[in-house]
Amino acid sequence: MIGVGIIGLGFIGRNHFNQYEQLKEKARIAAVCDKEPDRLAGDWSKVGGNVGDKQGSVRDLTGIKQYPNWKDLIADPDVQMVDICVPTYLHAEMAVAALQAGKHVLSEKPMALSVADCDKMLKAAAKAKGKFMIAQCIRFWPECVYLQQAVKTKKFGPLKALHLRRQASTPDYSLNNWILNPKLSGGAILDLHVHDVDFALFMLGKPKSITAQSYKRTGGGYDRVHALWQYKKDLVVQLEGMWDMPPAFGFNMGFTARFEKAAIVFDLTSGKPLTVMHNDGSTETPEMPTRTDGYFNEIAYFLDCVEKKQKPRISTPAESRLAVAIALAEIKSAQTGKPVAIK
Ligand SMILES: NC(=O)c1ccc[n+]([C@@H]2O[C@H](COP(=O)([O-])OP(=O)(O)OC[C@H]3O[C@@H](n4cnc5c(N)ncnc54)[C@H](O)[C@@H]3O)[C@@H](O)[C@H]2O)c1
Repeated sequence: MIGVGIIGLGFIGRNHFNQYEQLKEKARIAAVCDKEPDRLAGDWSKVGGNVGDKQGSVRDLTGIKQYPNWKDLIADPDVQMVDICVPTYLHAEMAVAALQAGKHVLSEKPMALSVADCDKMLKAAAKAKGKFMIAQCIRFWPECVYLQQAVKTKKFGPLKALHLRRQASTPDYSLNNWILNPKLSGGAILDLHVHDVDFALFMLGKPKSITAQSYKRTGGGYDRVHALWQYKKDLVVQLEGMWDMPPAFGFNMGFTARFEKAAIVFDLTSGKPLTVMHNDGSTETPEMPTRTDGYFNEIAYFLDCVEKKQKPRISTPAESRLAVAIALAEIKSAQTGKPVAIK
């Protein structure tokens, strides 16, 4: 039974806490940390979010150690695995410290705000005895796994065109709205859109080059991006990410994938299941697991890797680093108005 310590009890930390409660046979939450006393005491009534469990609650944390200082959580011998759920600008420092302390580390996406910070994390991981993974939940999201498998197996013929979209109202739920400060979050491209950057890499590997257009609306970083990724002549790949929609919009993630023989269409908020539309006019709605989502699956997978002493393969830290590098390349393309070659 692995002892887990969660750092950061905000939107995603609370979500991870709930997942570990479903994974009791594999993991025990040994400790939590938050710099905010109410959150540390289990009062999550003011914690919001845009997907999944949006409502806060008050939790009984009896039996779980509560640390206001993350360094004390990392030093605790009852904690064998550290789950980093704090704002992005803190990921690198905490992950490196936890890896150096011999812990297994699951850290939220994006890996970091700069490639240099990603490299520090990779360097620490290379020397560490603990396993390391960035929580790229989309690689584990049932509908996304279905699409990735269809691309890989070519069961509907080769992929011809792909449109990934992640669309949201301007976020207002993070603590002190750190998410709208690009120095802390990287703006919509690194915080939100990076999910699809990583998902496209998962399915298609590295593009030859990318072109992006973007703009700033909320007074901070880029709030919207439309990117075209160049692979080969007969494959069109478009990624769209935004958090500049009005409050009534909420949150949507979705994709349209055109294969030679069929199209796969999914939008989380459409109320319709993932649908395969065949060229002959027929449709099918493949069954998806309903009790688990990408958050549960990624954590269950990482715990499995730890238990089996295997390096995570579905999502590697090097791939997460590439996602950050390409998100930054999109920002460069948007700034210069020119395509950026991906080496
Ligand atoms: N995978 C996903 O779908 C997903 C969704 C949301 C957020 N995230 C990522 O998770 C991270 C956290 O985002 P969030 O939305 O949960 O933010 P949040 O503001 O809701 O929560 C962050 C928490 O970290 C705590 N914190 C901040 N600095 C700290 C410190 N030095 N020591 C201890 N605690 C500290 C805050 O008090 C707060 O409770 C970000 O990197 C974000 O990109 C991922």
